[in-house]
Amino acid sequence: MKSLRVEPALRLEGEITLLGDKSIAHRSIILSAISKGKTVIRNFPANKDCIYTVKAFRKLGIRITQKFKTQAARCPAITVFGKGLYGLKKPKSPVFVGDSATTLRLILGVLAGRAFRVKLITGRSLLQRPMRRVTIPLISMGVEIKARHKNQGLKAEDYPPVTISGGNLKPITYRMPVASAQVKSAILLAGLYVKGNTKVIEQIKTRDHTERMLKLFKADIKLVENTIVIKGNKELASPKRIYIPGDVSSASFFIVLATILPKAKILIKNLGLNPSRTGIIKVLKRMGAKIRVSSTEHRASSIEPMGDLIVRSSSLKGTVIRKNEVPSLIDELPILMVAASQAKAKTIFEGVGELRVKETDRIRSMSENLKKMGAIVKVLKDGNSEKVVIEGVKKLKGCRLQSFGDHRTAMSMVVAGLAAEGKTLIDDVSCINKSFPDFLSQLEALMIYPPR
Ligand code: S3P
Repeated sequence: MKSLRVEPALRLEGEITLLGDKSIAHRSIILSAISKGKTVIRNFPANKDCIYTVKAFRKLGIRITQKFKTQAARCPAITVFGKGLYGLKKPKSPVFVGDSATTLRLILGVLAGRAFRVKLITGRSLLQRPMRRVTIPLISMGVEIKARHKNQGLKAEDYPPVTISGGNLKPITYRMPVASAQVKSAILLAGLYVKGNTKVIEQIKTRDHTERMLKLFKADIKLVENTIVIKGNKELASPKRIYIPGDVSSASFFIVLATILPKAKILIKNLGLNPSRTGIIKVLKRMGAKIRVSSTEHRASSIEPMGDLIVRSSSLKGTVIRKNEVPSLIDELPILMVAASQAKAKTIFEGVGELRVKETDRIRSMSENLKKMGAIVKVLKDGNSEKVVIEGVKKLKGCRLQSFGDHRTAMSMVVAGLAAEGKTLIDDVSCINKSFPDFLSQLEALMIYPPR
């Protein structure tokens, strides 16, 4: 446990470049491992979750080396020596995936195609996260899966640890009951091993990094509106080099802070600007934020759009975030709630029930913390989901807060504390290493505090 004292800040100014996007990084390791030959991945984020993916594939027999270049530990290049679609080997003992849900759910998709048994074990927080959303479609493809089963009232759910025995898959057409990029990706990865077409139909579009990266690796994949079709049983071709653009989820803490502090101007360089991830920018602009994309670039080694962003102090007004916008900013909802607490009038977050099953229950963690700081927060039913209504206040008040062991709650509350009046104490910020080990040092480099 590492607590943190946050003092109100005066200004934020300067330039930052962020490490690679966590979602894209997981996928880059996975596809490099199951394609043939060497792939060099640049701007790989050495955070806890991504390192679990690296370790899991090492355990499955893949050689992965790290080279630290001039910018030292900040910008490692990672080399993956892929062994092809059928090259993973049966591990001698269970594979530990830490608390990384993306590692677990996506690896299940890959192991679905391999005819051996693997037990996947996790850290404590992932033990509480639902797996049925991914076990159900994989079982319907012919995979054997055993998970820890629990009945909660009328609802049955599966939790880790998960044991999977794959091989001999059949094609399915799957209409997604939850908007989840992890589930979609698991099915598409399993589809690589199917003789024939696997179809996934999304009711609400989620992040499309898997589809983009499958194209980069020359998979037979087609997209027609909300349907993705993948034809399997074909080896992937490594693009040899992958560049991972800066993580827009990590950037969101800086974007909101620059927006809500009275004197701020920052430049964020080489940022991933995939439209399926930039909901935070769209919504903040709608709220009146001064955000400008100053240049855009499309690198062949990434097939992900990226660019530079300039953000300045703004005065925000409330808005309504609709259910179909939620997947494009799902991980940014906690920090967007901090922005809402500083906006004029109400901001309504519709259809955000999925926040209950993230690293912690983020509806609870954010509403409890923001209320302690003086914000007006209501949680209401919204059909079969939930909505959060936040009424902005002039100034938040510094106080004692809890991170609930969740990286995004912790970083959101650091931002809230910097914009508040009075001191804030956050009980535990070591969880930030899950996605953004450099967060506090990069923040410190941009902060200007009032003279004492
Ligand atoms: C992710 C998808 C999202 C997101 C998570 C990363 C991914 O989860 O919250 O942090 O990389 O596919 P869901 O698929 O559960 O929405």
